[in-house]
Amino acid sequence: MGGGRIKTLREGLREAAKADPVGKPEMGWPQNLPERFKTRRLEVGNAVTEALGVASADKVRKGEWALFGVGFFDAPQVIVLTMERLFMELAVMDVGAVALALMLLAHGKGLGTCPQVASLRYPWVFHEVLGIPETQRVMLVIPIGYPVDEAPANRFARTRVSSDECLTWVGIAPGKD
Ligand SMILES: Cc1cc2nc3c(=O)[nH]c(=O)nc-3n(C[C@H](O)[C@H](O)[C@H](O)COP(=O)(O)O)c2cc1C
Repeated sequence: MGGGRIKTLREGLREAAKADPVGKPEMGWPQNLPERFKTRRLEVGNAVTEALGVASADKVRKGEWALFGVGFFDAPQVIVLTMERLFMELAVMDVGAVALALMLLAHGKGLGTCPQVASLRYPWVFHEVLGIPETQRVMLVIPIGYPVDEAPANRFARTRVSSDECLTWVGIAPGKD
């Protein structure tokens, strides 16, 4: 979806986020994350804003960046993935598979994508602007466009947790007897 409707959507989302940073997500939103997840999220967030030249104590500019993100980082197009509510949690995996397929296809065509959940704090804006029936839930948005590789936010050094931290090998592990 692009053109005029994306403008209406992005403006509606930014207005909603300005009025209420917490929103009212219609999906379970993680609360009271364990410290290791909180720390990691903070580290990644700070790495991005640092790359943008924003001091970690600069709440105003950090807030502006968050609003920019809620409006899909001004991407020219956005893919909005929805799911029938009655499919419940099981079909979340299907949505994830579709999302990955779309992102790989886009990448193959030289396009960049950025899966996002931040704007899902304001589901009513999607329902209203896009006419999504209440029988469906908005699951994921994927802004899409030609990547600007030299943009600071696309150039910061990513840290990754090691595979040992998120994978459990049962049986034959690589490099082990
Ligand atoms: C399900 C999902 C939701 C995400 N939501 C957001 C988001 O709301 N805002 C954001 O800036 N990044 C979000 N991200 C992270 C980015 O889309 C991206 O995956 C991350 O920056 C890692 O990019 P990299 O692989 O280039 O390091 C999300 C990622 C996933 C997989």
